[in-house]
Amino acid sequence: MAKPVNAFTCTACGATHRKWAGKCDACGAWNTIIEEAPLSQGPGRGLGTLKGKPVPLSGLATQDAPPPRAQSGIAELDRVLGGGLVPGSAILVGGDPGIGKSTLLLQAAAAFARSGQQAIYISGEEASAQVRMRAQRLGLGDAPVRLGAETALRDILTTLDAERPDVAIIDSIQTLWSDQIEAAPGSVSQVRATAHELVTFAKRRGTAVILVGHVTKEGQIAGPRVVEHMVDTVLYFEGERGHQFRILRAHKNRFGPADEIGVFEMTGGGLSEVANPSALFLSERGEPSPGSAVFAGIEGTRPVLTEVQALVAPSTLASPRRTVVGLDSGRVSTILAVLEARCAIPFAGLDVFLNVAGGMRVAEPAADLAIAAALLSAREDTSLPADCVLFGEISLSGALRPVSQAENRLKEAQKLGFSRAILPSATKGEGLAGMRIDRTPDLTSFVGDTFGAG
Ligand SMILES: Nc1ncnc2c1ncn2[C@@H]1O[C@H](COP(=O)(O)OP(=O)(O)OP(=O)(O)O)[C@@H](O)[C@H]1O
Ligand SMILES: [Mg+2]
Ligand SMILES: [Zn+2]
Repeated sequence: MAKPVNAFTCTACGATHRKWAGKCDACGAWNTIIEEAPLSQGPGRGLGTLKGKPVPLSGLATQDAPPPRAQSGIAELDRVLGGGLVPGSAILVGGDPGIGKSTLLLQAAAAFARSGQQAIYISGEEASAQVRMRAQRLGLGDAPVRLGAETALRDILTTLDAERPDVAIIDSIQTLWSDQIEAAPGSVSQVRATAHELVTFAKRRGTAVILVGHVTKEGQIAGPRVVEHMVDTVLYFEGERGHQFRILRAHKNRFGPADEIGVFEMTGGGLSEVANPSALFLSERGEPSPGSAVFAGIEGTRPVLTEVQALVAPSTLASPRRTVVGLDSGRVSTILAVLEARCAIPFAGLDVFLNVAGGMRVAEPAADLAIAAALLSAREDTSLPADCVLFGEISLSGALRPVSQAENRLKEAQKLGFSRAILPSATKGEGLAGMRIDRTPDLTSFVGDTFGAG
């Protein structure tokens, strides 16, 4: 019999490789590939005998109404879930260590429990006393949440099966272990197997199961990406250290729109909802200054204004710095190349720093024009008009492409006191009464109109 060969698995994305390598080809992460014992397999029998039983097949028509969603009453959370928690769904909440996952989910558990749902919170990371102390600090001591501290999957499933809660929160998936798997807790095979069991349980019993997963940069612990495909909904809790803003973002949702965000502020008393994120993200804006441009964006179903900030300075380095935070760096490189090739505005010999104020992350291509505007404004040392927002996608030819939901973007801008917008010529709609709209066909015209000869 062939000797079982150990597999090399990436702890960040779960891809398997034939041999060890410093970098994972599948996800590009460094130092994430580890050697793991293969899953034990029975003797291969092939499917030649077809001994299975027939699967009952049905049509697509249904009389069943969609199941009622459970609302937590935390509006920012309910919206990201697509309008509430779907019974029997499996949700993964990923995030960096210490970002506030346990705080968020304890608050969620309390909110679900207070609105009449049976909620169980299983902590594999902290002792019950520790979780109770957090609950005390968050003012949740009286919420009817039932708390357990356990890491053995078998015991957790037995408990959940007996209790049949509406919501079960498992904090975290990386601490669980199944006695069926010979691997350490947190290894790719344990994380996969325990997540699989819990997802199966959710479907079978109609309990909504929420799994917490730590984002790991490298090392022996499997990251949440390893289970992303197994669950119905993937939420990431993001934020920057030193900033009090936290963003809960839907990366995948089988029961609602992806890209929806919920915005929170971390305070001593826990996470509080931010109902008007635009006002928050623009709150640090002072007098108009070079390098600042306001982007009128859409996150999920909601318009959100953010400030793109650029700093451009002469470089002493052979290959100048391109430091980008909160924006796609590939996108920024493309915009720099288009500015150079189509508008003859070189950035060679200049260090470029770009970020989004408030620790927000912006992925929409519609942000291109605001990024270009911030870069040009910083390079020319000229402020953009303070009452102006921008949006539009830049193509490689330098043309500006219209983007969706222009009217929603403009309405939000007007609500926040902006009276002027620069957008692509081909944008549909008339614009809003009382708002000056400057339509521009391409980047070259934009440069000419906004920064003189450029
Ligand atoms: N006594 C306190 N007062 C105010 N804020 C606190 C207090 N204790 C913790 N915090 C805040 O809560 C955050 C940690 O939250 P939490 O434990 O929910 O994070 P986590 O993502 O679950 O972390 P871990 O990776 O350790 O599980 C800290 O970063 C801190 O900002
Ligand atoms: Mg935690
Ligand atoms: Zn990988």
